[in-house]
Amino acid sequence: MVITQSKKRFLDEIYLMKDSNLSPFVVKFNKTLKELSFYTKKSVRKLSDLKEYFYDENTVKKILEKGNDPEIYSFCDIERPKVVGELNLGWTQINPGLIGNEFYMTKGHFHGPNEAEIYFCQEGEGILILENQKTRIIHPMYITESSIAYISPGFGHRVVNVGKLPLIFIAIYLANSTHDYEKVKREGFGILVVRNQSSRIPYKIIPNPKRDKENLSQILPLKQ
Ligand SMILES: [Fe+2]
Repeated sequence: MVITQSKKRFLDEIYLMKDSNLSPFVVKFNKTLKELSFYTKKSVRKLSDLKEYFYDENTVKKILEKGNDPEIYSFCDIERPKVVGELNLGWTQINPGLIGNEFYMTKGHFHGPNEAEIYFCQEGEGILILENQKTRIIHPMYITESSIAYISPGFGHRVVNVGKLPLIFIAIYLANSTHDYEKVKREGFGILVVRNQSSRIPYKIIPNPKRDKENLSQILPLKQ
């Protein structure tokens, strides 16, 4: 059955008229359990889930061949019905660590063209990679405890943990938003965040060598 836009809007409005759908709630996070006090989805992402996302494929292969499969990050979501007006809440913990020289990170994704998101960093230290889907300009942002990032529509995003401790952030996004992980799997982001042993700052941003020349990105300076 094809649902037209006007029919969809009508269904959304009917949904919002039901008071029971709008019950407010408060939720708490538990750092020990790495979960929210209630949630609709909890997932763990191990190295084997991210093997196409890290740059150093040989190192990934070697780690997995030895029978190791470290947990890179885990997340816990409260997913609301996919209608206009609803928001989802996500809580993510990225462990500290490196695969080769590249820091542990989320897969990253792009949303639909009119879908913004907000990240609130609860603790840790990281780089939020934002890539404009149209211009391919990269906007790297440094985030740490209490940083709030507004992710404008049209910007792909990934979080990289550059600290020695877990990085925890909360995401608020549209319940009816779409997530494109395949684009990132295929092309990666325009930058990698890697270890920097020759400086007091333990990380550096380098262009992603896997990006073909026509798709090279302009990289803006890191915003603190
Ligand atoms: Fe997102």
